Amino acid sequence: MVELLPSILSADFAHLEDQVAAAERGGGTVIHVDVMDGHFVPNITLGPPVVKCLRRATSLPLDCHLMIENADEYIPAFADAGANWVSVHYEACRHLHRTLELIAQHGMQPAVVLNPATRVNLIRDVLPMVHHVLVMSVNPGFGGQRFIEFSLDKIRRLVELRHELGLAFRIEVDGGVAHDTVARIVQAGAELLVAGNAVFGAGQPEQDARALLAAARKAANE
Ligand code: DX5
Ligand code: ZN
Repeated sequence: MVELLPSILSADFAHLEDQVAAAERGGGTVIHVDVMDGHFVPNITLGPPVVKCLRRATSLPLDCHLMIENADEYIPAFADAGANWVSVHYEACRHLHRTLELIAQHGMQPAVVLNPATRVNLIRDVLPMVHHVLVMSVNPGFGGQRFIEFSLDKIRRLVELRHELGLAFRIEVDGGVAHDTVARIVQAGAELLVAGNAVFGAGQPEQDARALLAAARKAANE
């Protein structure tokens, strides 16, 4: 079943609670939270204090996408703040297996993220440990970028691998998910759809979330 994960990166941070509530009314079922440190990616966003406030503002699961170095150091703080899903980049983790274990030990759902240039086969051995795989369909750091088309092949490859290995991890896609791309993304096999600009960019998150989710469901024949 497809789900829409509004990414607050493109929301109005002065009105975060209202923005999240509107995206939820529009059908968002998980809130995607982009954490950037200015080192792994060329942008800085937010950390555990904001996650803690979001935890009070919504009952939806919080999907924290860590685009940071030294993720291990911050995992306990995200757990305390109320994060539910935590994803870490293959490219940022020196000991990915240990980091995924650490996330699970803190009671959160672990996930691994692949940059556009990182091949799916590299994470094959850790797939049994993850709740989902996040395919970046733009280079991480900013909202509103153009969807990279070969991400569709990576989604299809993950669907194959999941079948081959008999696993149940979910497939998430992040970057450039919008009206003109969502049908192809869903048809390739992604089921967790992150959208920032397409939900919050025009200042009407409820309507825009609803329309995007409707297009996704139609493509999935749901
Ligand atoms: C980019 C972030 C995304 C971002 C996607 O580094 O990981 O979550 O919000 O933005 P859009 O949907 O605008 O491409
Ligand atoms: Zn993200």
